[in-house]
Amino acid sequence: MRLETVFGLKGRTALVTGSSRGIGAAIAEGLAGAGAHIILHGTKAGGAAVVQQRITDAGGTAQELASDLSSPNAGRDLIKRAEAIAPIDILIINASAQINATLSDLKPADLAFQLAVNLGSTVDMLQTALPLMAARKWGRVVSIGSINQLRPKGVVTAYAATKAAQHNLIQSQARDFACDNVLLNTLAPGLIDTDRNAHRKDEDPEGWADYVRTLNWMGRAGQPEEMVGAAIFLSSQACSFMTGESIFLTGGY
Ligand SMILES: NC(=O)c1ccc[n+]([C@@H]2O[C@H](COP(=O)([O-])OP(=O)(O)OC[C@H]3O[C@@H](n4cnc5c(N)ncnc54)[C@H](OP(=O)(O)O)[C@@H]3O)[C@@H](O)[C@H]2O)c1
Repeated sequence: MRLETVFGLKGRTALVTGSSRGIGAAIAEGLAGAGAHIILHGTKAGGAAVVQQRITDAGGTAQELASDLSSPNAGRDLIKRAEAIAPIDILIINASAQINATLSDLKPADLAFQLAVNLGSTVDMLQTALPLMAARKWGRVVSIGSINQLRPKGVVTAYAATKAAQHNLIQSQARDFACDNVLLNTLAPGLIDTDRNAHRKDEDPEGWADYVRTLNWMGRAGQPEEMVGAAIFLSSQACSFMTGESIFLTGGY
């Protein structure tokens, strides 16, 4: 079998939420490189312009939709707008909100916000996208989870809980849609060098270096590009007999 047949995404359209930067941008560029047409997404119109330009410069195709996924029904609307462009074969659920707080420090509004973006919009998107994928008898959903879904840290109590809930949702829907060739899996990163963590590095470079050295077996943060291979696998024909699972990319944990 040819590599292109197994991993190639030519003719597929992928919606990648939160792809204006970070892990989402890297995955969007990777899927475009494998041949998929990409629908980029961020909170602001034009926010993914740089990523879009990089994709077109590399010979791929991409366009952009903007929406704040904390709003009610935003996930549903986003899928509908994307489907108006092209049938969505691949959905990468990557955008998330992370507000660091221990349980005792957690504010109700911050809990509600993280639940809305991380869990509420995921429910909305799956409710809308899965029946359409099922009718077409092909679909791949990759939910970007976290090591915190398995080994939660107290400083991100609510965020970690939403990531565990998100994977639980992926598992139940994986079971329900498996016979329709709609396969759902979670790609769960460890610490990755993105804007989300940049302030910690900037504020205390030495403390950051110490933290990272002992955090995982490789003693370093991952790079967004290191998420791409697994994302292509989970989005492609290569992933034809795997659903409801998690792939952990953590540097050893
Ligand atoms: N970085 C890590 O160490 C790490 C570790 C484990 C898991 N993860 C997971 O990996 C995924 C990507 O993380 P990242 O570090 O690449 O994130 P990031 O650099 O903070 O980027 C977040 C992306 O999500 C979008 N976004 C944020 N809030 C949104 C909202 N309310 N509505 C719609 N879009 C929103 C942002 O859009 P704008 O550009 O418009 O703001 C941006 O595109 C997340 O699911 C995160 O939980 C990250």
